[in-house]
Amino acid sequence: MMIIRKTAAELERMRRSGLLVHEILRKLAEMAVEGTSTLELETAACQMMADAGAKPAFKGYFVQAAGERYRYALCTSINDEIIHGIPSPKRLLKKGDILKIDTGVELNGYYGDSAVTVAIGEVGEETRRLMRVTQESLEMAIDKVRAGNRLFDVCGTVERHVVANGFSIVREFVGHGIGTKLHEDPQVPNYVDRRNENPRLKEGMVLAIEPMVNAGGPDSQVLGDKWTAVTKDGSRSAHFEHCVAVTENGPWVLTRP
Ligand code: MF3
Ligand code: CO
Repeated sequence: MMIIRKTAAELERMRRSGLLVHEILRKLAEMAVEGTSTLELETAACQMMADAGAKPAFKGYFVQAAGERYRYALCTSINDEIIHGIPSPKRLLKKGDILKIDTGVELNGYYGDSAVTVAIGEVGEETRRLMRVTQESLEMAIDKVRAGNRLFDVCGTVERHVVANGFSIVREFVGHGIGTKLHEDPQVPNYVDRRNENPRLKEGMVLAIEPMVNAGGPDSQVLGDKWTAVTKDGSRSAHFEHCVAVTENGPWVLTRP
């Protein structure tokens, strides 16, 4: 395993990628209302990336498990879909749905990657709690991204908060280092995986932390489209993601202002 540390100048470039991803997700979240198709979101995202001179990080990205390249700029996953939902003109958002939007860009050689879960109209109490706990677990993990802490401090913080609230953690998909590639070392599971190394965090490291949390059981399966991962029990899933740099002043969330 090799964790690539970034210089201050590199972090400034990653900051630009991060802020672009933030701006795109903000606009997409506004567009995500009843009747919008997930392909409309995709089209808008591609336009915004092109306007900014950025490349969609996911489009053309080879994923081993799928055995092929992904063809879109966004993953749009609804309700029991955990991640890698494929944008489609046939998927119209409905009141009461939750939509996960996950996207990344490459700008001047550096990547940014972030995800949000948005509610379409009113959603039930348990769904709101699922979204809140998932977001909280990310915020608590972000606070652990400090020089001298270890990777397991980040992973374990997500795990403890989710489990304490009676939800479950998806184990098949994990966060990651990020920089001049979308996925760099280390893997960042949302649980402590004792089979992995537990490196100390150092200035210049950047982690993409992305809790995927199910209301029911942890098990997932991939649909016949080879991409869409859903919960096995049909329960809902939430996902939030930020890129976070280790700096001398503590955690720096690159993917929000
Ligand atoms: N969801 C992944 C991440 O946030 C990236 C998806 S890769 C793709 O790291 F090819 F499926 F888009
Ligand atoms: Co990611």
